[in-house]
Amino acid sequence: MGVGRKDALKALQSIKEKIKAKESRWRYKVAVLSGKGGVGKSTVAVNLATALAKKGFRVGLLDADIHGPDVAKMMGLENVEVLAERLEDGRFEMLPPETDFNGRTAPIKVMTMGFLVGEDQPVIWRGPLVTKAIWQLLGDVKWGELDFFVVDFPPGTGDEILTVVQSIELDAAVIVTTPQEVALLDTGKAVNFMKKMNVPYIAVIENMSYLICPYCGNEIDVFGRGGGKKLAEKEGVDFLGEIPIDLKTREASDAGIPIVLYGDTPAAKAFEEITEELVGRLKEMKEKSSD
Ligand SMILES: Nc1ncnc2c1ncn2[C@@H]1O[C@H](COP(=O)(O)OP(=O)(O)O)[C@@H](O)[C@H]1O
Ligand SMILES: [Mg+2]
Repeated sequence: MGVGRKDALKALQSIKEKIKAKESRWRYKVAVLSGKGGVGKSTVAVNLATALAKKGFRVGLLDADIHGPDVAKMMGLENVEVLAERLEDGRFEMLPPETDFNGRTAPIKVMTMGFLVGEDQPVIWRGPLVTKAIWQLLGDVKWGELDFFVVDFPPGTGDEILTVVQSIELDAAVIVTTPQEVALLDTGKAVNFMKKMNVPYIAVIENMSYLICPYCGNEIDVFGRGGGKKLAEKEGVDFLGEIPIDLKTREASDAGIPIVLYGDTPAAKAFEEITEELVGRLKEMKEKSSD
């Protein structure tokens, strides 16, 4: 029994070291999460990653939603094959598929469980297997040198999030909410979870804040706008901005082209502004901590 346990501990040590070596080459590590599902977390992660790459940053995007991976489709990377490379020590490393949207952005490296299991196959893993999958997506992928490592999480505070938070040192948690009361309640929990995990920068984004009437151009507050900002104020964290409901957002994600690449829609503009703000905040923070 002693030997089995020793081997297991050694394997654990080695995966942790592998992940540490990888993350030392990523400048900013940003998690996108939410208390509730369906609030637009993946939409935010994908558009944030794309907006960053549009500015020329080297971006890696990890879909840490093991059970419901959506990122491949949203990034136009459906049915791509993941190739592997043999390392000097005989191990294999996965090569993350890349997209630059036909030269419109810097290349974005994407990794998701969706590449590894069929898109229509349910993943029914629990606890330890989920943890192992996350370790592999972090440590057995050739991520290389990155300016931003963006992680899209499943809703809530489950195994995926715990594993990532315990494996890498996040610089920022971007928490997505909608203006409804129920979403806000869960958002407060997510904010506090990230505080407990000592994530240095925490911010809230309000998605589906308002609808721009396609006929008159007026802004309609469908779910009661402004709750996200109030919540951020109450929790003492930053508020990064509001994203309107934009029918093109859904069309865009179905077409595999993030809305920020459409450029002229209100949601695209909102994403650009939020990204700009986040980059500024993170730079400020790093500069302060290296003084
Ligand atoms: N601002 C928005 N305007 C219109 N549709 C949106 C917006 N944000 C998200 N959606 C749509 O809502 C659905 C859920 O979004 P998604 O990003 O998958 O949420 P989550 O990852 O939180 O479950 C998707 O169909 C997406 O296209
Ligand atoms: Mg999602």
